[in-house]
Amino acid sequence: MTKAIILSGGWGTRLRPLTCTIPKTLIPVVNKPVIERQILLLKTAGVKEIVLAVSVMSEVVKQHFGDGKRLNVNIHYTNEKFPMGTAGAIRLADDYLKDDNFFMLNGDVIMDFDFSEFLTSHHKYGGIGTIASKIVEDPSRYGVLIVDKETHHLNKFLEKEEYSPPEGKITPMPINAGVYILEPDIFSYIQPKKKVSIERDVFPRVAAEDQLFHYPISGIWKDVGKPSDLLEANIELMNHIINNLNSDVKNLIDDTADIDPTTNIYSPCTIGKNVVIRKNCSIGPNVIIGDDVYVEESTKIRNSLLYKEAYISKNTSISNAIISDNCLIEKNVELSGDDENLIILASFVKVNKEIKLISKDHQPISYCHHEIVKESIK
Ligand code: GTP
Repeated sequence: MTKAIILSGGWGTRLRPLTCTIPKTLIPVVNKPVIERQILLLKTAGVKEIVLAVSVMSEVVKQHFGDGKRLNVNIHYTNEKFPMGTAGAIRLADDYLKDDNFFMLNGDVIMDFDFSEFLTSHHKYGGIGTIASKIVEDPSRYGVLIVDKETHHLNKFLEKEEYSPPEGKITPMPINAGVYILEPDIFSYIQPKKKVSIERDVFPRVAAEDQLFHYPISGIWKDVGKPSDLLEANIELMNHIINNLNSDVKNLIDDTADIDPTTNIYSPCTIGKNVVIRKNCSIGPNVIIGDDVYVEESTKIRNSLLYKEAYISKNTSISNAIISDNCLIEKNVELSGDDENLIILASFVKVNKEIKLISKDHQPISYCHHEIVKESIK
């Protein structure tokens, strides 16, 4: 039976300070960690044996998933003392993965496509590896794939800095979606005990030998590389889940949430377990609230992500913000980011009353865990 390995050991530097206390792969997307969503998808293709390749904050990941019983899968771990790169990480699991082809996933992407069909196509192509490819409008941030549309051969694998758009014009291109099926032969391309990147050091060589294929995917796909991606991924996945419900439901509100009838919810919104929202609030659109959050009266929240156990005091206004777990916002606060430059509060940040944080001149505003915000920025 096909197994899987999920990479969960990077530094997550672009998501700092959110990743100072929570590993990137455990960050919630619509109130579920990214890799938990991936494990559920792998299960739909019958995968039950999963290796998590951990390194940075490994104990936090291990504590969250344990042996996998809660999700009805068997989870094993390879532990790098320091990050060994995307190929170095899987090389450590070669003994475990040597008998059959296996799925390999970057632990920071959300998607929803048929993994069984992906596996069938990999068998049909017959190469050492098949890369899921996604056409994006602006490929400049990603590894670009030069492909043969007929044979699905991947002719060239170009990392971000190697790709220049034709005549300097941004053109939609297939990119590396960070999801692969690989044969155990891949291990012969990876030097043991060395830091090796699968994208830079391995795939270009496999492609040059005509052993790499691509499998085009459609529908939702998003990586959570930087804060604006994380908010977008939450909003896109929330819309995807709501649209797939085949009902008139416009929000994902847990039954245990206690929302005052005078409060307006503008769809789409997600509201987690045991959330309390008091009177005369305006929530949404595009708001995702984690479990056990408390929102006092006359507060406005839109286009924002709140992790679990945050406390938002009355008459506060929040837009384009990511508020991590256990933050405390006192009354009459204004947090206003813009689309690219969000206001970011890491775990346990306290914002004093009357504070105004307004992102101007495209400057992001962020605070590390346990900081106390005592001065306004406007
Ligand atoms: P940035 O530092 O912001 O680039 O994030 P990152 O460290 O997560 O790197 P990147 O976005 O390239 O990682 C893609 C996926 O691979 C993520 O799920 C990472 O956790 C994982 N990853 C990256 N490098 C390593 C590594 O050296 N070892 C392991 N085990 N996982 C890795």
